[in-house]
Amino acid sequence: MFRPIESTTASRAVTVQLQGKAITAREGDTLAIALMNAGVFAFRQTPVSGQPRAPLCLMGTCFDCLIEVDGQQNVQACMVEVREGMQLRLQVGARRAEAKT
Ligand code: FES
Repeated sequence: MFRPIESTTASRAVTVQLQGKAITAREGDTLAIALMNAGVFAFRQTPVSGQPRAPLCLMGTCFDCLIEVDGQQNVQACMVEVREGMQLRLQVGARRAEAKT
């Protein structure tokens, strides 16, 4: 179903934390690709039914790849480049209400 294309140039490895578990990714990949390369496919659960959702379009259209990044909810994982030290959480249920500052 999903297989990464082999790169002809070496890319640096970066490490992110997914709910406390270290995941190694290739610098330059999107967060969605990095997580799927690590075997993570369900990024969130719907607020109403709790059904798992996985990235679908990988181009910012479907919003099925929403994830929490460094405490910020509803980040589109397919639109963000992976960075060293990112703290990630899968989204379960409705998002938290946050006060505007
Ligand atoms: S996978 Fe569709 S918006 Fe990210």
